[in-house]
Amino acid sequence: MCGIIGFCGYLDAKQELIKGLAELEYRGYDSAGIACFTERGIEVVKSVGKVAGLENKLPSRMESGCGIGHTRWATHGGVSEVNAHPHQCGNVTLIHNGIIENYHELAKELEETGRVPSSQTDTEIAAMLLDSLYHGDALAALRGAVDRLEGAYAFCIMFADQKDVIYCIRKGSPLVCCSSEEGSVVASDMVALLRYSKEYFVLPEYQVAKVTKNTITVMELDGTVVSPVMLSIHWDMSAAQKNGFKHYMLKEIHEQPEAIRRTLAPRMKKGEQLLPDFSEDGISDELFWDTNRVVITACGTAMHAGMMGRILMERLLRIPVSVEVASEFRYEDPILDEKSLVILVSQSGETADTLAALRLAKEKGAKTLSIVNVKGSSIARESDYVLYTHAGPEIAVASTKAYTAQLTAFYLLAFRFAYVAGKLSAQEVSEYMKGLDGVGELMEKVLEQKDKMKELSKRLTPAQDLFFIGRSLDYALSCEGSIKLKEITYIHSEAYAAGELKHGTLSLITGGVPVIALATQADVFAKMISNVKEVRARGAMVILITKEGNTAAIENGICDEHLVVPASDDIFAPFTAAIILQLLAYYTSSYRGLDVDQPRNLAKSVTVE
Ligand code: G6P
Repeated sequence: MCGIIGFCGYLDAKQELIKGLAELEYRGYDSAGIACFTERGIEVVKSVGKVAGLENKLPSRMESGCGIGHTRWATHGGVSEVNAHPHQCGNVTLIHNGIIENYHELAKELEETGRVPSSQTDTEIAAMLLDSLYHGDALAALRGAVDRLEGAYAFCIMFADQKDVIYCIRKGSPLVCCSSEEGSVVASDMVALLRYSKEYFVLPEYQVAKVTKNTITVMELDGTVVSPVMLSIHWDMSAAQKNGFKHYMLKEIHEQPEAIRRTLAPRMKKGEQLLPDFSEDGISDELFWDTNRVVITACGTAMHAGMMGRILMERLLRIPVSVEVASEFRYEDPILDEKSLVILVSQSGETADTLAALRLAKEKGAKTLSIVNVKGSSIARESDYVLYTHAGPEIAVASTKAYTAQLTAFYLLAFRFAYVAGKLSAQEVSEYMKGLDGVGELMEKVLEQKDKMKELSKRLTPAQDLFFIGRSLDYALSCEGSIKLKEITYIHSEAYAAGELKHGTLSLITGGVPVIALATQADVFAKMISNVKEVRARGAMVILITKEGNTAAIENGICDEHLVVPASDDIFAPFTAAIILQLLAYYTSSYRGLDVDQPRNLAKSVTVE
């Protein structure tokens, strides 16, 4: 949700900022802007639309080694140049990621002192506030601003009279920093640091980073210098590039077998039996002994992974497991105690609602475990336990490899938990683990058949409405298939528990409406087939997905298209079927000529409520 970057060093700042913004563009892409210190003072360039448009507008004479850049996802104020960042007021030029919740009240106060904003943004009010507090002492101004600002923020600030210095501060929204031979860099996400260094630190909340070309000094607000905790990135630049694929999404779909293997490897200790092992994660069995209830909470695709986790855990553990949308959970006064385990799921580890849900769970005394992809992110740092997925950087807004890596984490947890609770024997768990270990190979087989999905997508391309149906694990996957399709193809789509269809939705099934029916689970296979017949009888165009070796025969004419995932234990079918749904969404979006990686109105990392 908005990407911010600051560069201060020995290279052409405007070019570095543009490169960084292009890497951060998945965080927001409705407008962009940069500000640089030049010999003429601070120069600002903004443009509506993508970063490429901003690049074309940059004057070559904008020579500078120090500047800040922003790519916006509009919250307050429409998409316009005046609302784009950086915002300026007097001595202050700044960029912001977050939302200033009390901006209205602050604006009124500032107006009384004669300061009138030119934009509709909360950010300009923050710039005005800071300017009103700045009398040559940046820390004093920041202390005053922190006292007054409510909401979430990560700011990079340039004061006109402090040439080639950037001040940064954050609360809630992310900000990471690194130093290198080329200079000092700060950004919303480590993806934009990769090109400079693999050593970085997360700026702690309410601490100030003073960035110059040779150093980044981190201070408490009273000026006490502190040493940041350094972290290492294990990704390289190529992990964040398209590597010959047309889109990040297609590349990330293909990376799934590897992402799953990487997530499994540190937790697969081969002994006599193959049991999940969390010793490197510091998750001891005590956590499981002492839990009588699990609540999973997350947003979007991560929540869909949680739906799968719920079914699996409840089935194997026989304790109550619920799944809640984080934005609801945080305001519902949930019933939690020290015997509750709250599992937070997040690719970015920065989603505002998931972070708030985590804080609430801790406040209520529950134990917290997060499944997170980005190392050192807020959710990872604040949870009692973290199980990292090792999916690598995910750039496409539509999540694919992070989702199946999250599933992997849930399977590992469910297997270990069931073993510790005495619900599964070591041998049973070992068998399951072998199955999980083989999932990557099965996914590769499905990827080899991608041309089938490509061809089939042509039939979906003209659709206006589309339905996904499934039962149990297939229903949880339907929800993910549906969000994937609608977010990147803009086709209206809904996922239905197949048995629920007849309670209303069947009225929407008319001649030619596509229905994607998932029937990979043997225990509900016959019921699913009945549901397929129901939609077929109303003229639906049915794409049926089953698993090789399903015992019941598929009658001729029951569907228009039939796709089959490779044989495996039923509980692993979601991994292979997920690839089919992802590819259908991907190719349909491509055929519709849409921006697959950056669909309209969305952003990958949602750090506002
Ligand atoms: C946004 C993204 C989704 C993602 C969700 C949760 O809406 O567009 O793809 O699933 O946020 O993000 P998280 O980083 O917490 O997994």
